Amino acid sequence: MSRIKQESFYICSNCGYQSLKWLGRCPDCGEWNSLLEQSTAEASSTRFQSSQHPVLSLAQVPSGEMTRLQTGIGELDRVLGGGMVLGSCVLISGEPGIGKSTLTLQAAQQIADQGRKVLYASGEESPSQLKMRADRLNSHSPNLMVSFEGNVDRILNWIEADSPALLIVDSIQTVFLSDLPAAAGSIVQVRECASRLFACIKEKNIPLVLVGHVTKEGSIAGPKLLEHLVDVVLYFEGERATSTRLLRAQKNRFGDTTEIGLFRMTATGLVEVKESEHLFLEPSHGAGILTCALEGARVIPVEVQALVAQSYLSIPRRVTNGYDYNRFLMILAVYTKTISSLAQEDVYINVLGGFRLDDPASDLAVALAVGKNQRELSIPPVVALGELGLGGELRPVSALEKRMQTAIRLGFRNFIIPVAKAVEGEGVNVKPARTLKDAWQALKDLLKG
Ligand code: TYD
Ligand code: MG
Repeated sequence: MSRIKQESFYICSNCGYQSLKWLGRCPDCGEWNSLLEQSTAEASSTRFQSSQHPVLSLAQVPSGEMTRLQTGIGELDRVLGGGMVLGSCVLISGEPGIGKSTLTLQAAQQIADQGRKVLYASGEESPSQLKMRADRLNSHSPNLMVSFEGNVDRILNWIEADSPALLIVDSIQTVFLSDLPAAAGSIVQVRECASRLFACIKEKNIPLVLVGHVTKEGSIAGPKLLEHLVDVVLYFEGERATSTRLLRAQKNRFGDTTEIGLFRMTATGLVEVKESEHLFLEPSHGAGILTCALEGARVIPVEVQALVAQSYLSIPRRVTNGYDYNRFLMILAVYTKTISSLAQEDVYINVLGGFRLDDPASDLAVALAVGKNQRELSIPPVVALGELGLGGELRPVSALEKRMQTAIRLGFRNFIIPVAKAVEGEGVNVKPARTLKDAWQALKDLLKG
């Protein structure tokens, strides 16, 4: 069979879509002007080489032991599923200035303190900038080696010579291979650099941490392909205005992706937040409705506030902060049908403390916060838990007991929940509700005391 041999093809720098002809807009991700030319000779170096291994029955494959390298930062280890697996690659991404370099340098420091050698390859910062950060974090271990080399081949030579226990590359967009004609950060460079680094760490059986940038839209810059290639993708997020930082696993081949890591950014680096600390609860709680979100094994009490104000627009405004907009519209529709119309009102919803609330168990708190503000009810603090169905029915929530116990420990006494069976305690007032209407009535009953 004969094939037309083409010298070059085009590849989308956003999603990795490949096309034989140039297109102004990527048909896959919709990005404009993202198709870049690539020669077939270049690409062939990355093509999959036919394997020497015969086909095996799965039963014959020996089950491998996963050895993990613990960073000593409990919150990070937990999100990783117990530490970094040797020979695996972790991608940490997040907005600029959120603290990715701080987190990785702290992890590097901890491992260096265990007497292991760590190589931190920084392509982003000058030696003095990195030194300033290290001084703030008090990282002066002789085992922590830094390199300001952007050339991947030289980084690989160093690994060959010195066999570190961990390699950190900050960031993947700033390293390059000199034999490729493309600029650092381009799809070709990112993909090739990553694949060469992977091959090396797999052979040496050491973990690799890659720091990755995110684009304005929030996805990891460079090829989407990178997310598929690495073993773990972590997102570091938080509001710049607050010191709270959250580490979420978006993908983890070796652990659970529901766990989150909580940190506080201080003048001397990131500090882990203990299970008993409740960062998102403001001291002046009570203006809204409280709820307890579940993040992995962790209960996070948060307050949802709503503002219902007369609208002067033909289409009233709906605004959310820290809450999914479409879910909010759905809750408002159920609210409108069962409690009261909001046709003439603007409705704003805010989750306090910069937390992004996406636990369905918080539906009831959102609906009741709207009602409480619309009717200007002055009631004692109340914790609402329940998922809202489109018919206005309340569905049970997972780990109800655990959530309630956390709230009781924090001193909350009033609860509105979807089931009759509940945790008991001194002075604890539990109101079961089967529908949103019941819950609304229960909230109004609190007014009477
Ligand atoms: P950085 O780790 O450089 O962010 P990234 O690598 O994600 O771009 O962190 C930058 C911010 O963190 C910067 O605005 C200063 C702040 N910071 C502290 O508040 N305390 C510290 O100890 C350090 C090192 C940084
Ligand atoms: Mg950085």
